[in-house]
Amino acid sequence: MSSLSRRRLLGSAALVAAAPSLPRPAIAQAAPVRIGLILPMTGPFASTGRQIDAAVRTWLRMNGESHGGRRLEVLLRDDTGVAPDTTRRLAQELVVRERVNVLAGFGLTPLALSTAPVATEARVPMVVMAAGTSIIVQRSPFILRTSFTLPQQTMPIADWAASNGITSCATMVTDYAPGHDSEAAFKRRFTERGGQIPLELRTPLRNPDYAPFLQRVRDARVQALFVFVPSGEGANVMKQFDERGLAQAGIRLIGTGDLTDDDILNEMGDPAIGVITSHFYSAAHDSPENREYVAAFRQIAPNMRPNFMSVGGFDGMRLIAEGLRGTDGNTDGQRLVDAMRGKSWMSPRGPITIDANTRDIVQDVYIRRVERRDGQLWNIEFDRIPQVRDPGT
Ligand code: DHB
Repeated sequence: MSSLSRRRLLGSAALVAAAPSLPRPAIAQAAPVRIGLILPMTGPFASTGRQIDAAVRTWLRMNGESHGGRRLEVLLRDDTGVAPDTTRRLAQELVVRERVNVLAGFGLTPLALSTAPVATEARVPMVVMAAGTSIIVQRSPFILRTSFTLPQQTMPIADWAASNGITSCATMVTDYAPGHDSEAAFKRRFTERGGQIPLELRTPLRNPDYAPFLQRVRDARVQALFVFVPSGEGANVMKQFDERGLAQAGIRLIGTGDLTDDDILNEMGDPAIGVITSHFYSAAHDSPENREYVAAFRQIAPNMRPNFMSVGGFDGMRLIAEGLRGTDGNTDGQRLVDAMRGKSWMSPRGPITIDANTRDIVQDVYIRRVERRDGQLWNIEFDRIPQVRDPGT
């Protein structure tokens, strides 16, 4: 990247003055490859940051630091999860001052969207490890995604509901882009299959109180409620669903697996038992790769159970390493992106591919039921839809 575009990116005279003006070394083969990892380590979505940070460290512990002849160096930044401008500024500083070769992380959609132009202008690959709105990958040719998309995760539960005797269902989603994606996908598939949606509710992203919304669901006398809330929010929904007596009123709770997030599932207690969700990862997934992952993760983070966000971080590191192996350690942004496209491997979640054309993830989606086993709550997978790609909305 030219120093001119680095300077343009920085966008502030004061910051330009502070930026180092040294050119990149002509021969950088031996220098470490720097990964700017931007995550919400504090604030309302800190669980996403903690999970991905632990997963990145787990991946390095399991696979070593050297890939394609280069050592990986991770620079972690906390964007607090709620201010897109902060995420973009951190990305700019990482690119301009720290000369990172890859940007990674991005805990929520607005934070990924605001940073996309930085990746494009800097020609730096941007690995989205968490955010799940469909359009993100289209916002820059340098974006690749190792997480999931909401329509990809939602379609299977809409099918499951329609196939299992549910004909009338309310929806309740968090009122921002991934919630809108999820609502649209559920509505399209469920109504195509003959279902009716008499009530569509959107709850605020900041400081939500679910009680009044759930009261309306109860009054609507639907058979089921479909929910999408971001990681960390599920326990609040579950508590209110229980306290408002929706289960006693005969209303079933279904959703994407964000609702029964492994990070907090155990805290939800009995009200969570029997909840059906569709998702790409359960810590209870029965495979040798997952057992190895869960054990290694727990060595890094003994008090945590890995959740779906963590797996996006784990596979994001693998994608970067695969890219470096493909370029023999060359960090030219376009060459790295080209080396990462089309890669497939066996993840702790199951087989995955980073689609060569869309740069988005293709993966199995599972239907799961919350069950108590050995005194703990788990998402137990009982059906699998193979190799689902983002259907758009
Ligand atoms: C997003 C964030 C989440 O925590 C989640 O579970 C799903 C999507 C997002 O902002 O894209």
